[in-house]
Amino acid sequence: MANKTWLITGTSTGFGRSLATLLAQKPNLNLVATARHTDQLDYLDQYDHGQIQKLTLDVTNQDEINQVVKQVNDRFGSIDVLVNNAGLGYFGTFEESDRDAVEYMFNVNVWGLADMTRAVLPTMRQQRSGVIVNFSSIAGLFSFPTLSFYNGTKYAVEGMSESLAQEVKDLNIKVLLIEPSGFRTDWAGRSSQKALPTTTDYQQFAESIEQNNANAHHEAGDPDAAAEIIYDQVTNNYAQLPLRLPLGKFASDMAIDKYTKSLAGFKQVRDISVSADQPEK
Ligand SMILES: NC(=O)c1ccc[n+]([C@@H]2O[C@H](COP(=O)([O-])OP(=O)(O)OC[C@H]3O[C@@H](n4cnc5c(N)ncnc54)[C@H](OP(=O)(O)O)[C@@H]3O)[C@@H](O)[C@H]2O)c1
Repeated sequence: MANKTWLITGTSTGFGRSLATLLAQKPNLNLVATARHTDQLDYLDQYDHGQIQKLTLDVTNQDEINQVVKQVNDRFGSIDVLVNNAGLGYFGTFEESDRDAVEYMFNVNVWGLADMTRAVLPTMRQQRSGVIVNFSSIAGLFSFPTLSFYNGTKYAVEGMSESLAQEVKDLNIKVLLIEPSGFRTDWAGRSSQKALPTTTDYQQFAESIEQNNANAHHEAGDPDAAAEIIYDQVTNNYAQLPLRLPLGKFASDMAIDKYTKSLAGFKQVRDISVSADQPEK
């Protein structure tokens, strides 16, 4: 896929910024870098070769979504790759998490991604081609204490993407789920609210929340390497694009472990599962 238009959400920092920086250096490619505040996209100015568009976009704002999609279509006439990257986190126990904060996270991680995708799909359907890159997480496959609601957002992304992929397969539109483990971005720091437990029964989790905070920007994962992989997969592996792509050794280990154990567990209860159907006549 060369000479294509990429539209990315949340390019101020982290994965979005790494990917935008990489794409800005590719000739014959249109880059639409979006952010809540476009003054955070000055880093792109050194690369501007007339094929970069910087647009304001808060993914929780449907009017801005519609505007962005219209502006991209008007300027470039296509949207070939949508990268739903914008997202945030929330650390806290299930019982003590703040409902409003968690609801906002769902609005960004789940509804923002869904609304962007629904706005772009008519263009991709008309083209009969396109790739939707959805940022999930290893937390979309595997659950961790103090991340229950973040897990919930990413499991939702996984479920929606798996279904969507089947609906758009015959239209030659692909869905790629990115499932990173810990990467050096702002996610664990400024982009994740932390609710330290106040209940004595949950005190053991305070330390892990504080550790995650302290570990921000020291994670194993390199967002620039992730950007190279995403670009390479979409550009050179369109025909064979996997639905799921764990990124980082920890993510790969956890994904394999989860599915291996799940498979063994499902086989173990196979007879019980089957016995719930009406007897075959
Ligand atoms: N880093 C990791 O370890 C990790 C692991 C697995 C998955 N992920 C996922 O990777 C994606 C990118 O996060 P990151 O790691 O690169 O963290 P990051 O550096 O904190 O970047 C998050 C980006 O999302 C943007 N954003 C937040 N709310 C938004 C909204 N309402 N509308 C538009 N943009 C919004 C932020 O913009 P502002 O600058 O305006 O806040 C920022 O550009 C997220 O979906 C995250 O869940 C990260």
